[in-house]
Amino acid sequence: MLHFTEVLVLLEHKHYCSGQDLANKFNVTRATIHNCILRIESLGIRVDRVRSLGYRLLQPLDLLDKSTILNKLPTQVKDRLSSMQCLQAVDSTNCVAGEFELPDSGQFSVVMAEIQSSGKGRRGRVWVSPYAANIYMSVVWPLQRPLYETGILSPGLAICILQALESLGVPHLGLKWPNDIYCDNKKLAGLLIECSGEVSGECKMVIGIGVNVLMSQVQDILIDQEWTDIFSNVDDWKSTRNDVAAKLISSVIAGLSLFEKRYSIEWVDQWARWDVMKDMQVEIHSVGEKQTGIVRGIDASGCLLLETTQGLEKISAGDVSMRAQS
Ligand code: BTN
Repeated sequence: MLHFTEVLVLLEHKHYCSGQDLANKFNVTRATIHNCILRIESLGIRVDRVRSLGYRLLQPLDLLDKSTILNKLPTQVKDRLSSMQCLQAVDSTNCVAGEFELPDSGQFSVVMAEIQSSGKGRRGRVWVSPYAANIYMSVVWPLQRPLYETGILSPGLAICILQALESLGVPHLGLKWPNDIYCDNKKLAGLLIECSGEVSGECKMVIGIGVNVLMSQVQDILIDQEWTDIFSNVDDWKSTRNDVAAKLISSVIAGLSLFEKRYSIEWVDQWARWDVMKDMQVEIHSVGEKQTGIVRGIDASGCLLLETTQGLEKISAGDVSMRAQS
């Protein structure tokens, strides 16, 4: 069956493509092409239609390109890269990455996609993933330390993502425990870490990163929390998604090296600098339970420190959510 992305990549910004030529190329009917165009438009991509000429995109697409990204990576990161893929359409890059072979110790693999049909967020949420708009990336990494030591990775890698975005000029950044990246008090990026393998033996970590770069308002109704994108926050945004991807990979790999060398304790202090909930009265919701208290940062295992009437409680990330108390 024809996937709309196959049509989309042919609709260059500068040239028109007739419906008949597209139908001939893919050996489908004009009606199928018409439906593909409707699907493309439903994603917020603007298509120019001229009866005598056909279709073309009104704006150039900013597509991911493997060699462009590789050229932007520092040598010490490239040397550790076992494989990299830039795919068109996937269900979830985390699911694709889950099928990858485990890279050798010290190495990592990356998969990115232009669109996810079942992007996964934390706590069973959907991660809205329109075409060629944002970054959907998963890093596969062999965990060399026991699973119980990995609690600090969620907040630590959120710091790495924030630093990558800061280096691209994104302003007003902040973090919300355990691993949400905020911009101007709205969610800009998220992290979903999944692990498979033996608790005592080698584990495969899949680190899924989603960053909103240029979301169309079409997506707004699909998202059940306050969100933002880079484009709305940076005046005169000139970077490409390849720039964002390269910065994210470099920063996350640097963070994983830090963790491997057991220097991750520095994330505890860094967290305090960016914590949007610091010293705020909050409610913590976990399955069937609610706790209230004041946020006092994180500890070396990535637990949230919550000052309650019973004293300082440590909350581990798991399936919990946190919201400010009104
Ligand atoms: C969150 O809820 O904050 C986590 C969002 C993680 C989204 C990314 S997009 C790339 C990777 N693939 C997925 O299906 N999810 C993660």
